[in-house]
Amino acid sequence: MKKIMVVFGTRPEAIKMAPVIKELYKRDGVNTIVCVTGQHREMLNQVLEIFDIKPDYNLEIMKESQTLGYITSTILMKLDEIIKIEKPDIVVVHGDTTTTFAASLSAFYNKVEIAHIEAGLRTYNKYSPYPEEVNRQMVGIISDYNFAPTKLAYENLIKEGKNIKNIYITGNTAIDVLKYTIKPDFDNEYIKWLDNSKLILLTAHRRENIGVPLERIFEAVKEIVDRYQDVKVIYPVHKNPILIETAKKVFENMERIKLIEPLDVVTFHNLISKSHIILTDSGGIQEEAPALNIPVVVLRDSTERQEGVEAGTLLMAGTDKEKIVEKVCSLMERKDEYERVAKSINPYGDGTASSQIVDILLERNV
Ligand code: UD1
Ligand code: UDP
Repeated sequence: MKKIMVVFGTRPEAIKMAPVIKELYKRDGVNTIVCVTGQHREMLNQVLEIFDIKPDYNLEIMKESQTLGYITSTILMKLDEIIKIEKPDIVVVHGDTTTTFAASLSAFYNKVEIAHIEAGLRTYNKYSPYPEEVNRQMVGIISDYNFAPTKLAYENLIKEGKNIKNIYITGNTAIDVLKYTIKPDFDNEYIKWLDNSKLILLTAHRRENIGVPLERIFEAVKEIVDRYQDVKVIYPVHKNPILIETAKKVFENMERIKLIEPLDVVTFHNLISKSHIILTDSGGIQEEAPALNIPVVVLRDSTERQEGVEAGTLLMAGTDKEKIVEKVCSLMERKDEYERVAKSINPYGDGTASSQIVDILLERNV
């Protein structure tokens, strides 16, 4: 019987790993071990609760203002012991966080096979996003199974010399998750608060945006709210204390901007589907919003989700105040532009990625 150890540590990994874990639990002939690093705490626990996943191990590493060196070295030391006890056949990781990188390295040091979900995303700019671009490239060097969400991701891996036999195009598991979360009759206090206003949903957390870029983003949001009286903004602020402090400082006393705690994923996905426009520097939201036909103004200089740009749903704005305002204005004022963007076709798969991934993990050998 194959023993598969799934390792993750942050909110986005948990969300996109959840359907894979559910699928593994359904199958016979596999022993599934779930290990969380606890790189995130509250934001990870929210996801575990929603999907009713009870980890076999929690390394509980999170501390305030944690550095990349701290996260990497602590995971390496703690996970090493667990891999030595459990002796899995495969360690499964997702995406590009420091948990993803450190867990893969730990598996490699123990000569355990590595399966990388959401492989092949690239900007080829090592500081954008930072440190994720380098994390995923490093995992790409040592991974044995590479699950590319799209053809473009597959081609990146081929260009980098990966063996074609070990790359599989499956779609993104983010799309599978929407089957669990989206409820057509969803209603809650935030929907009531909107009261027919147009919702702009905002998220921002990237390390490279903290500081002046973040302040420019927030100034742009203020200007948009001043210009359009029928707009309300909901901003679930990431738990990072620096982000909370900056957001409170800039948005204090603005009636049509609601700062709230991170939302559980069911509420968040349903708010996406009720949004008029999304402003974000998140990676995962660039996959979910196109699947729900909601235009996204991307608050980054580059994206690894080029498919969404080509499909037309992702509009790149970076962190320049004028550019953000300009993109939002054109969506607000030009109905034809809005319709064109909203009607783009989702490039991230048909929602069967998890079952395809589990089939391959159980049936194939590298
Ligand atoms: C991490 C990932 C990033 C991913 C993001 C998703 C790395 C280096 N970064 O960035 O790729 O896009 O998660 O959200 O892997 N905190 C809490 N409670 C939580 C979570 C975070 O208090 O539940 C606070 C802590 O003070 C922590 C800080 O946020 O030190 C930053 O967390 P960290 O995981 O280091 O970085 P993120 O910006 O969340
Ligand atoms: N998300 C959530 N609650 C929130 C904000 C985001 O559940 O309040 C979800 C979102 O739908 C997506 C994931 O969290 O699935 C994205 O996480 P994040 O933006 O933190 O990380 P990234 O994708 O940039 O790595």
